[in-house]
Amino acid sequence: MSDIVFALPKGRLAERAIEVLEKCDIDCRFLKFDTRELVLTDSNKQYKFIFVKPSDVTTYVERGAADVGVAGKDTILEQNKDIYELIDLKFGKCRMCVAGFENDKKTSYGNLKVATKYERIAREFYESKGVNVDIIKLNGSVELGPIVGLSDVIVDIVESGATLKANGLTVLEEIFSLSARLVVNKVSLKTKSERILPLVKKISEAIV
Ligand code: PRP
Repeated sequence: MSDIVFALPKGRLAERAIEVLEKCDIDCRFLKFDTRELVLTDSNKQYKFIFVKPSDVTTYVERGAADVGVAGKDTILEQNKDIYELIDLKFGKCRMCVAGFENDKKTSYGNLKVATKYERIAREFYESKGVNVDIIKLNGSVELGPIVGLSDVIVDIVESGATLKANGLTVLEEIFSLSARLVVNKVSLKTKSERILPLVKKISEAIV
């Protein structure tokens, strides 16, 4: 019987994901070791866990290199991959926001420069308002945008708000709320349903 390959996002979501897996009676002690190994197998040899960049989870799952994974709703919406999103895991809660300097609150969006890691989300948000904006794609530290004059505002996730506060920025508009989701490869759900469906059920029960 082949392992179920489970893609876990490195970083802030991993710890919470492991907590949920432990509640599902999956032995996760090995996942807590301080190791540089990127592929780890559980003691019952049922799961192979791979640790990937959070924004890459959906790619591994879409391509079938992983059967299941944990991905932020921000990544799912931004990447729009051909995968199933099965469960709201209720952790990793944060908000997608427009942020900038408090006194820069604009009533009109004309010529607004928007720095973001989330090009699609930002474009769709401003399109829904019927305004053209200049979207500047960055890969991180987007709070720098308004500070150094690269952009007027940013579209980014806000969790504790500490990063905005530390940089003198504030939320100007909330776009939507986010959380982590369990995502599944479409073929795996058919071909490995006898193993994936009970796992999905256990996870659903573990998060209530
Ligand atoms: C994310 C996000 C904000 C920050 C928000 O960045 O882009 O910068 O977290 O969290 P907070 O509201 O709790 O401060 P991340 O830590 O993923 O790093 P990055 O800027 O390199 O993408």
